[in-house]
Amino acid sequence: MCGIVGYVGQRSVQEILLAGLEKLEYRGYDSAGISIQGDQGLGVVRAVGNLSALKAAVAEQANGDGGVAVLAPPATTGIGHTRWATHGRVTEENAHPHYDPDNRVHVVVNGIVENYMELKTELQDQGAHFSSETDVEVIAHLIALDLDEHGLVEATRRTYNRLRGHYSFVAQSSAEPGTLVGARKECPLIVGRGEDEQFLASGIPAFLAHTRTAQALEDDELVVLTAEGAQFMTADGVAFERETHEIDWDADAAEKGGFETFMLKEIHEQADAVAETIADRTVRPDGVDLPELDDELLRGVKRIIVVACGTSYHAGLIGRYAIEEWARVPVETDVASEFRYRNPVVGPGDVVIGITQSGETLDTLAAMRLARERGATVIAVTNIMGSQATRDADATVYTRAGLEIGVAATKTFVAQVAVMYLLALRLAEVKGTLDDERRTELVTRLKRIPHDIGAMLERGTEKIDLVAERHYAKDFFLYLGRHVGLPVGLEGALKLKEISYIATDAYAAGEMKHGPIALLDQDTPVVVVATDSPVLEKVISNMQEVRVRGAHVIAVVSEGADLGEHAAEALVVPQTDWMLQPLLAVIPLQLLAYRIARLRGLNVDQPRNLAKTVTVE
Ligand code: M6R
Repeated sequence: MCGIVGYVGQRSVQEILLAGLEKLEYRGYDSAGISIQGDQGLGVVRAVGNLSALKAAVAEQANGDGGVAVLAPPATTGIGHTRWATHGRVTEENAHPHYDPDNRVHVVVNGIVENYMELKTELQDQGAHFSSETDVEVIAHLIALDLDEHGLVEATRRTYNRLRGHYSFVAQSSAEPGTLVGARKECPLIVGRGEDEQFLASGIPAFLAHTRTAQALEDDELVVLTAEGAQFMTADGVAFERETHEIDWDADAAEKGGFETFMLKEIHEQADAVAETIADRTVRPDGVDLPELDDELLRGVKRIIVVACGTSYHAGLIGRYAIEEWARVPVETDVASEFRYRNPVVGPGDVVIGITQSGETLDTLAAMRLARERGATVIAVTNIMGSQATRDADATVYTRAGLEIGVAATKTFVAQVAVMYLLALRLAEVKGTLDDERRTELVTRLKRIPHDIGAMLERGTEKIDLVAERHYAKDFFLYLGRHVGLPVGLEGALKLKEISYIATDAYAAGEMKHGPIALLDQDTPVVVVATDSPVLEKVISNMQEVRVRGAHVIAVVSEGADLGEHAAEALVVPQTDWMLQPLLAVIPLQLLAYRIARLRGLNVDQPRNLAKTVTVE
């Protein structure tokens, strides 16, 4: 989740790049940089922090205070980047653009190169020196190696074909002024067509002020831009024409990628969030790599305690089921604000996992600190590089969901759940509690989840919309689930209450008859997570108990399951391993909450009384 922008044309490139980056800053603001084609070759300016830091650095360069001859006007070609850190710390060296040691090729990249270690080792064996810790610097090195023999376009194409992962990038070279080459695999890259000037960006807002004529790249496609136009080719080198389309978004819609709200946009980014989070960690077919965690630590762990708040707590609950099932390590989950005040029994030998997307939630940080003071090893799971949680932990495993703006957590939740699965699988491998066959099956299924999410979202939301229309005026919803379906129900209930202000309760389905059943009447919508699992039959019994009391069952079911007679409405999700099902089952519940809130005319991105980051008790 970074923002990239490129320009080639007649105008001063510096302003165009900075203005474009401003529109993409929501994609990340750990650092930013630009590189332009000046009289003396390629020059780069980079700065840690948000765009204002880059602007200050650029101004310094322009005043002649900087070291690199970079911004000699009138440069008219260049690339820019705003970074959401994934590989490598938040430092100037790790900021984009990246370049080869001879400063002949500069690149900006969005995404992850999964096989960078093997490429880096190969290049280092040939004597290459790397100036950053990132996975993407290899791209600049590889293009530079082929530049003299093949030229920029062919060198970029060859490099593209050596990479694995998902990324889009733009390259430029001092050897071929006035040319940019872009390539795309599973990360957005769009060309903006102007009169004698062309744009390239990871998001349309970057060039919307200049042109509304666009051409989107698809996977395994490259584009060569000069001021005169754009030439497209496949990764196999076959040239083709791409039709243009006119963008009719206003500026606000553009920022939201064409979606009506950030929350909806983020719901649709969930395939990417999972893909990025698992990418280079699931390269081996039969296991998971988490170099952030010491194998010795994992081998010795006797007890795990998860502390978190809100949605992150629900991700922890799912992690508990996976870790206990696969790695046979006992796991306790605790709401951080309870854990920290109940004099918990915790100490050396325990591993405490603090899950917090922001990395700044006060109660979670306090719980982590308390555990550490008492001698436990603390692992942070967070989405924000360098956040306080990473400083209060012995080790950090990052989710890679990109910046989440909607107050209601969606894509960060699936990314957290994905991390908990990775952790459970790694633990199981180190402890030898899962055989190769089952590990391979789970890794294969996990890698398929982004595709499943994408397919589900592409199918549209017609059914969910109908259910929402039928029930949006109700004043109470009950959610039920068993096993991993329970935290999914808890999360669905939280989503609905926080953005629609409807009262909800979520219960373990088996507990219903011990109290909540008294709430049911003809009017009550009861959302049941009834996806495939060893406890499905029990869940079906609970659905019957609800039905005979006249209440209305809305069931989330796995594709192919015939639960028609038990539910008034079925929301179907693709089939996967039952333990991984939460990654899919939560999505219709997010969408249901979303639609209901919209029908009630509410601001879903900023619900009343809530803050994105809760830094108070
Ligand atoms: O940043 P954190 O993950 O620590 O935040 C925890 C909760 O505040 C957060 O999940 C909250 O419950 C959201 N509003 C859920 O949508």
